[in-house]
Amino acid sequence: MAGELVLLTGGTGFLGYTILVDLLQHGYRVRVAVRSHEKIAKMWAAPSIVALDPRATQLMFVIVPDMAAPGAYDEAVQDVDFIIHTAAPLHADHASAVGGSDPQKVQSLEDAFVTACVQGNLGILHSARDKGKSVRRIVMTSSTVAIAPADFFSDAAAAAQMERGEEVIRGPETRVPVPEPPYNSQLPAYCAAKTASLEAAETFVNNHALRFDLISIMPSLIFGKDELATGTDSTRMLMYRLLPQPASNGPGDGDAASNPYQGEIVAVGNAVLCTDVARAHVRALDPDVKGNQSFVLNTDARWEDTVPITKTHFPSHSTRGCSGRVVRSGPLCP
Ligand SMILES: NC(=O)c1ccc[n+]([C@@H]2O[C@H](COP(=O)([O-])OP(=O)(O)OC[C@H]3O[C@@H](n4cnc5c(N)ncnc54)[C@H](OP(=O)(O)O)[C@@H]3O)[C@@H](O)[C@H]2O)c1
Repeated sequence: MAGELVLLTGGTGFLGYTILVDLLQHGYRVRVAVRSHEKIAKMWAAPSIVALDPRATQLMFVIVPDMAAPGAYDEAVQDVDFIIHTAAPLHADHASAVGGSDPQKVQSLEDAFVTACVQGNLGILHSARDKGKSVRRIVMTSSTVAIAPADFFSDAAAAAQMERGEEVIRGPETRVPVPEPPYNSQLPAYCAAKTASLEAAETFVNNHALRFDLISIMPSLIFGKDELATGTDSTRMLMYRLLPQPASNGPGDGDAASNPYQGEIVAVGNAVLCTDVARAHVRALDPDVKGNQSFVLNTDARWEDTVPITKTHFPSHSTRGCSGRVVRSGPLCP
């Protein structure tokens, strides 16, 4: 609702930034928690923020260098009506966290993903309970990997079964057990992080009498325009899932033999548009949406769907023969 104050984490990321734009467009005031001062200038200079031209009372920033530190959000939650918590590591951003056969590196992969995610979720819940007297709702970004194990997305046999309607339908209330460490690459560590952090948040909410409720949003692989992109990283992540798979999950991913998708062509199914995911997060703040529930966001797109879309929107590519060959379909892991 117009004028209410939202604390947004992860606003410097692909999804979080899109949520920020949606929040401002819908009249919310936003306090963005960022890790460093450098990121603030980048946000003010981003095209949609320049176009919206928010006043300093509509868009504010607070520095939270380490979301896993005790009391990290104590200051950030003060006077806010809502919290949207999207911050989570999607890639290990330092060389020591790449996993592989070295047990110490495998351990740090666990820290980089699972510990950071769980502490981030619990930290914001603790701060909201103890210091955020006006918080009415927290919306957290989870993932479809928290409702289906990773091999559910990568296993062609499971995919075929599902297409024939033989697979058990997984919905917003489905949960998978937290995969046990060690994790031999970033993807299983990420899946464990999303599973463990959702479990930690739901357990906290169930075990405490709170003034606020929790909504979890579970998107599949998110794609769309990334206004903050300065390189090809996000595109690379998407293309790795769409194109024939190399031996490793990408540069810096450690154990080369660990890519479960090696030799596979994984399809476009299980993907969702970033602006739709952002809309869902903001829509979840409405009081007419019941609290303490989860929403799965996904589309059932197929390779076959790309042919008419390409012909309509990229007619010259289509006639040059750059598209139109359907290879194989199957689900895609977020
Ligand atoms: N992308 C997908 O396909 C997808 C699918 C399903 C769910 N999700 C979930 O959506 C959320 C956002 O993903 P995204 O695609 O927008 O990722 P992203 O572009 O990598 O953004 C991640 C955001 O989280 C922040 N962050 C990362 N590690 C952090 C840490 N240790 N402490 C504090 N902040 C940290 C980043 O801050 P800096 O800018 O400072 O690095 C950035 O703002 C995540 O929860 C992710 O699990 C994503």
